[in-house]
Amino acid sequence: MRVFLTVLLLLVLWPRLSLADETMDALVGVLLTNDDPQLDADILKGVRDGLATTRTMEPPKGWSAVEKRLMKSPSAEVRDLANLLALKFGSQASMESYRRQVLNDGETIEIRRAALRALLEAKAAGVAGLAKRLLDVPGMRVEAIRALGEFDDADIVHEVIRRYPRLENLDERRAALNLLVSRPAHAGKLLDAVEARQIPSAHLTADLLRQLRGMKAADLNARVAQVWGVVRDSPVEKQAEIARYKKLLTAGPARGDAERGRFVFNMICGQCHTLFGEGGKVGPDITGSNRSDLDYLLHNILDPNAEIPNDYRPTNLELKDERSLTGIVTRQDSEGVTIVTAAETLTISRDEIATMRQSDLSMMPEGLLQALNEQQVRDLIAHLRR
Ligand code: HEC
Repeated sequence: MRVFLTVLLLLVLWPRLSLADETMDALVGVLLTNDDPQLDADILKGVRDGLATTRTMEPPKGWSAVEKRLMKSPSAEVRDLANLLALKFGSQASMESYRRQVLNDGETIEIRRAALRALLEAKAAGVAGLAKRLLDVPGMRVEAIRALGEFDDADIVHEVIRRYPRLENLDERRAALNLLVSRPAHAGKLLDAVEARQIPSAHLTADLLRQLRGMKAADLNARVAQVWGVVRDSPVEKQAEIARYKKLLTAGPARGDAERGRFVFNMICGQCHTLFGEGGKVGPDITGSNRSDLDYLLHNILDPNAEIPNDYRPTNLELKDERSLTGIVTRQDSEGVTIVTAAETLTISRDEIATMRQSDLSMMPEGLLQALNEQQVRDLIAHLRR
C-alpha cells in the first residue's frame, strides 16, 4: 500500500520535478523508511533526472541518514545512484570514491569515464589535475581532453599540443582540436602550433575554422584569414560550385571507391551524422535520406545554410569564463541548458552563461569538400550513395 501511495505521489509531482524543496523533503521522507530496492532506484533516478541541469546543491534535510541507509542497499544500482547524488550534495566521501574509480586501472574504461564525468559535473576540486594525469592513459584521453575544456589554464593547452603528434586516433585528435578552438586564448596557441608544424594545417577542418572565425578577437580573425582565406560565397557562386562538382562526378571515366569513401566520411562528416548505424547525432541520421540523389547531396553539402530545419537551429553560448560554445539546445529549464556541440553534449547551468543567442548559420559548415582532392570527393559520394 505504501509503495502504491508513493508511486502515486511521484507521478503527481513528476512534472514539477525541477525539485522544489517540499518535493525533495517528501522524497527524502519516503527514502528514509522504504525497504523496496526497486522503489529506491526509481525515486533516485527521478531525482537524478530532475537535477540533471543542477551541478551541486545543499543536501535536503535528512539526507545523511538516507545516504547511510542507501549505501548499505543490496542493490548495486541503488548504491551507485546514491553515490552520484551524494556527490551533487557535496559529500567528501563520495568524491573520494569517484577519484579512486577514475584512477583504478582495474576498473572498466566505461566506469572510469563515467566517474570522471560525474566529478566534472559536480565541479569537484582537483578535477583538472586528475584529467591531466589521464592524458597518458589510453582509453581515457578523449574524456580527459573534454574535461580539460572546462578550465581556463594555459598549461592545459601546452600539455595537449605537446601530445598532439602522438594522439592515436581521429577521436582523440578531434577532441584536442575542439578544445583548442574553444577559447580565444587557446586558439592563438593553436595557430602558433600550426605555424610551427606541430599540428598539420590539414587537420583544421571547415567546422573548426568556422569556430575560429566566429571568435570576437580581431587579431585571431586576421591570422585565420591570412592562412586559410575567407570563404563566403554568393548564391550565384554556390550554383556554380554545385555545377562544377556535378560535372566532376558525372563526366569522365573515373569512379569513386565506396570503401575508401567510408574513411573520408568518418573524417569530415561522421562526428555529426549517423550513416548505416554509426556516427554522431549533431545532425540528422542520413541513412534514410534522399542520398541516392546526387543533386540532393550536393545542395546539402555545399550550401548547408540554404535551409535549416528548426530542430537544428544552433545556439551560441558565451560563458562567463570566456568559453564559447555553438550547438543545438536539446533541453532547457530555469536551472540550465543542455547543448549538443559538434564535439560533445554539455549541461551548463544558467549562472555560468553570459549570453545566449540563436544563430542563422547551420552547425554544418560550408567548404567541407575543399579539404578533399578530386578522388576523395568521388569516394565520399560513392559511399553516401551506396
Ligand atoms: C558540425 C556538424 C556537421 C558536419 C561536420 C556535417 N554535417 Fe551535415 N548537417 C548537420 C546539421 C546540424 C544538419 C541539419 C541542418 C541543416 O540542414 O543545415 C545537416 C544536414 C545535412 C544533410 C541534410 C539532411 C536532411 O535532413 O535532409 C545532409 C545530406 C548532410 N548534412 C550531409 C553531410 C555530409 C555528407 C557531411 C560531410 C561531408 C556533413 N553533412 C557534415 C551537421 C553537420
